[in-house]
Amino acid sequence: MKKINNRKSFVKNFLSKKDINSIMQEFYFSMLNKLGNKKYRHITNRQIDFLSDREQFDIVYNVAKKHKNWSQIYENFRKLPSIKKIVIKKIKKYCKLKFSSQAKVLTQGPRIHEIKNSRFFTMHQEQIKSREGLVFFIALHDVKKSEGGLMFVKKDLKYTIPHFRNEKEYRPEITNSLTVDEKKIIKSKFERKFFAGEAAIIGKHILHETAKKTKGPPRWSIIVRVGFN
Ligand SMILES: [Fe+2]
Repeated sequence: MKKINNRKSFVKNFLSKKDINSIMQEFYFSMLNKLGNKKYRHITNRQIDFLSDREQFDIVYNVAKKHKNWSQIYENFRKLPSIKKIVIKKIKKYCKLKFSSQAKVLTQGPRIHEIKNSRFFTMHQEQIKSREGLVFFIALHDVKKSEGGLMFVKKDLKYTIPHFRNEKEYRPEITNSLTVDEKKIIKSKFERKFFAGEAAIIGKHILHETAKKTKGPPRWSIIVRVGFN
């Protein structure tokens, strides 16, 4: 079997529509609760169906992200029950089935990518200390071209290349000491779009980058890093 670190697979419907709606419903109520229900009483009790109509969700999100406690609200997302009950459960089951080994969850949480003011990850390999590691990127809605999917390269690497930590941007970046071949590979990057619930499951040797977002509503995804020892 292909080494975990070299793996790159895409699984459609890794999360079902029902899973996604439950997760987004939880994010939604979690934001409303922090904002104080009174002011938003007219919308508080509404059940939302994020995948068929996200307008109400985005209204609340746009208020929440300007709130002084936004970082706390955002931090709270990763601790919500549905992340563990739905996402982590599926990931562990997947890893056990595919690799017959126990995955250790290293980080978990949603990531929001917007046209402006987003954390942008340039081309990199996932920085995971475990001997073998994977990152799950799960799209929480359809992500079309230019809506901020992921970039990959045509010929995936099977080894680690040097990175440094860009402290200003809070991200790992590739250093300049690359071979001509490696530079060529990085230039071959292309964008991949995603369907709602689709997961990109990539080993820590797989180069990837946040695709530029020039259109569409805020892109929501869940990122989970796992390690194997
Ligand atoms: Fe990454």
